[in-house]
Amino acid sequence: MSAAEKIIAPAPSKKAATLSVDGKTVSFPIYDAVEGQSVMDISKLYAETGMFTYDPGFVSTASCESKITFIDGDKGILRYRGYDIDQLAEKCDFLEVAHLLLNGELPNKKQKAEFDRAITLHTMVHEQAHFLFRGFPRASHPMAIMVGATASLSAFYHDSLDINVADQRELAAYRLIAKMPTLAAMAYKYSIGQPFIYPQNDLGFTENFLNMMFSTPCEKYKVNPTLARAMDKILILHADHEQNASTSTVRLAGSSGANPFACLGAGIASLWGPAHGGANEAVIDMLQEIGDVKNIPDFIKKVKDKQSGVKLMGFGHRVYKNYDPRAKVLHSTCSEVLKELGKIDEPLLKIAVELERIALSDEYFVERKLYPNVDFYSGIIYRAMGIPSKMFTVLFAVARTVGWVAQWKEMMEDPKTKIGRPRQLFTGASPRGFVPMEKR
Ligand code: ACO
Repeated sequence: MSAAEKIIAPAPSKKAATLSVDGKTVSFPIYDAVEGQSVMDISKLYAETGMFTYDPGFVSTASCESKITFIDGDKGILRYRGYDIDQLAEKCDFLEVAHLLLNGELPNKKQKAEFDRAITLHTMVHEQAHFLFRGFPRASHPMAIMVGATASLSAFYHDSLDINVADQRELAAYRLIAKMPTLAAMAYKYSIGQPFIYPQNDLGFTENFLNMMFSTPCEKYKVNPTLARAMDKILILHADHEQNASTSTVRLAGSSGANPFACLGAGIASLWGPAHGGANEAVIDMLQEIGDVKNIPDFIKKVKDKQSGVKLMGFGHRVYKNYDPRAKVLHSTCSEVLKELGKIDEPLLKIAVELERIALSDEYFVERKLYPNVDFYSGIIYRAMGIPSKMFTVLFAVARTVGWVAQWKEMMEDPKTKIGRPRQLFTGASPRGFVPMEKR
């Protein structure tokens, strides 16, 4: 970590907020962000007032200080370490962006070559891990396997478990970034009953992943450069997204001193949910269910009817109240991939485009500032590439691993880090006498 990157306590602010509780006025310092919302430091609130804050879903709560990713949800801006996401997606490859997220700077040529090599040398997983896979039923959801397989790495790599040693933290980070595509491809191969394909060091990160997914011992797979580039872009776009549910899960798990492999297992579990990374799978289910452009108006009607419980999957975001910048890149990538594969008339794309057009002009969505998010187009690309929908969230996890480890490392190197321990508003039973079983 460079000196410039060192996390330091926010400079004492001249600004403060005051709060009056029961006739007592308490003052809280305000820290200004480089960009975006300032925060009010309420860490002394309990000591001063005997009260907690209450903020379900962390709608107004910053859980940490971070220098990695910036989002302006109103303007639809996403930046990694100061660089706009669309520029990174256009001009970098995934490992270049991984270096940026982990180390704070884009690598020069020499650093890039060293980083690529270091990651490449860690792509293989322990041979014993193969037996872990064999314990799962073939029909397992690959995310179920990924939760277990990722956490199980802590059983294999004992020399990168000491979270207090910087070299071990870095080694764990490299291992996770390198091995996640291997685990993901193994989960896929296992589900279709094909043998695992070992990583190949002469291939780039994304090419290697595609090769492990699609080659077989009897049939070589020739990586299509357009598809590899599209996959690289998708990985870049999903690599980090500041304090989302899965990243916050990784940080919270890590705050207790748990090892990074276990923390990432927890992050993958959180990502699995349909309100988070599971949405890309749900988008394809939804598009298939709609089935035809002519059924869109009826579907939109259902979405707007609160009793139906139906949501327009791939739309809406806690932070973006504008077009998700990642969805913009993915929309054009989607067209490139379908053209390359001669599937430009893909019916699901037609439904998606029309759904987007109608939703963006419908008062319900406009009023609530609901726009397509990153999941809206990614599934169509994956599907065209021949990746089954159960693997979509796994691909999200492969990409987000970089963000998770960067955020985990940042937290471990931040002297202000404490075990995360939220409080609660208790609304349960008040004290009552114990009733013996025979009297209940
Ligand atoms: N379809 C229909 N209505 C929606 C949708 C949607 N996709 N998203 C939000 N709304 C409505 C809500 O019902 C609510 O309406 P109301 O004000 O009348 O009650 C209003 O818009 C605000 O929505 P909230 O649920 O309060 O927004 P929140 O920030 O809590 O949720 C979320 C964000 C979970 C992403 C939500 O928009 C959603 O469920 N979207 C669909 C799932 C999805 O695409 N998830 C992927 C997110 S991106 C990612 O994780 C990579």
